[in-house]
Amino acid sequence: MKNILVVGGAGYIGSHTVKHLGQQGYTCIVADNLVYGHREAVQSPFFELADLQNPASLQAIFSKYRIDAVIHFAAYTYVGESVEDPRKYYHNNLVGTINLLDAMLDHGVKKIVFSSSCATYGNPLYTPMDEAHPQKPINPYGQGKLMVETIFADYARAYGLRYMALRYFNAAGCSHDGDLGESHTPETHLIPLVLQAIRGERECIKIFGTDYDTPDGTCQRDYIHVEDLALAHQLALEKLDSLSGYINLGTGIKTSVKEIISAAERVTGKPCPVQIAPRRPGDPAILFAAQGKAQQLLGWQPRYTHIDDIIRTAWQWECHKKF
Ligand code: UFG
Repeated sequence: MKNILVVGGAGYIGSHTVKHLGQQGYTCIVADNLVYGHREAVQSPFFELADLQNPASLQAIFSKYRIDAVIHFAAYTYVGESVEDPRKYYHNNLVGTINLLDAMLDHGVKKIVFSSSCATYGNPLYTPMDEAHPQKPINPYGQGKLMVETIFADYARAYGLRYMALRYFNAAGCSHDGDLGESHTPETHLIPLVLQAIRGERECIKIFGTDYDTPDGTCQRDYIHVEDLALAHQLALEKLDSLSGYINLGTGIKTSVKEIISAAERVTGKPCPVQIAPRRPGDPAILFAAQGKAQQLLGWQPRYTHIDDIIRTAWQWECHKKF
């Protein structure tokens, strides 16, 4: 299994995974519509401009290359926007994935690793959240990811699809050598926003709520380094012959918004201008993973377990961004 089609391989997590797989001897064929992805981020000679909502563009790729397996990252990921414009999300993230599965099955490709999300769980009934936690998404983004997981299970039974849905917690950080990183427009994620505030590119970071039932009153999340995610995709790919299902990817460590800001100040040696703001609708107080299943089934463990090390890679990128 050498030729991997990476859909969404010009995006944040996708591009890091393409780089990692290339170093491991895989050939990645990257497909991306470049709506949010960056052509400069693609570290593979094989790039195809394609769109999930254009089935012919997907079919053409499978006709052109001999694909052994697919990793599917392509999705819109703005949770708030998914509430305001669910049609956009269901068309791209759900119908688009069905189109991709059609092209795969039409060409006899039966292996897929998929970017799912802890957003499929909805509000936590308990933490840390294991894979048995009930899935009750609270927004169309999470709902769409869950629907795809359901489709995979049906296609596995009916057509012998082999799949692994990786439920990420909060992807963070950048490539350790500084050549890839997080570059979203608009940027909504906490760590880049904090670092941009420290660099004076933004007036301040707004802390969305200081009255949560957490030790310092701010939300806690499980930040997982993007290179650890990339490794997990490789391991999942290599286990598809014997495994199908879903796995959490997190560190099992919770870090609050205020702790992120303190860590960023520590790493950069500079103060971060802060403003207290109201809660952001839809934010649970605490989200963090029980990550034993990933270790048990994939032999995967996060290498970045200290938030300062994650933020250090993100800071390097913020200071020397290439795109
Ligand atoms: N936050 C702030 N100020 C900001 C931005 C974020 O205080 O300017 C807080 C949020 O309220 C939250 C934490 O920082 O408590 C992390 O927020 P992010 O927006 O960075 O990440 P989320 O936890 O909201 O979102 C992540 C992924 C989504 C995924 C979601 C699942 O980015 O794709 O987890 O819950 F859907």
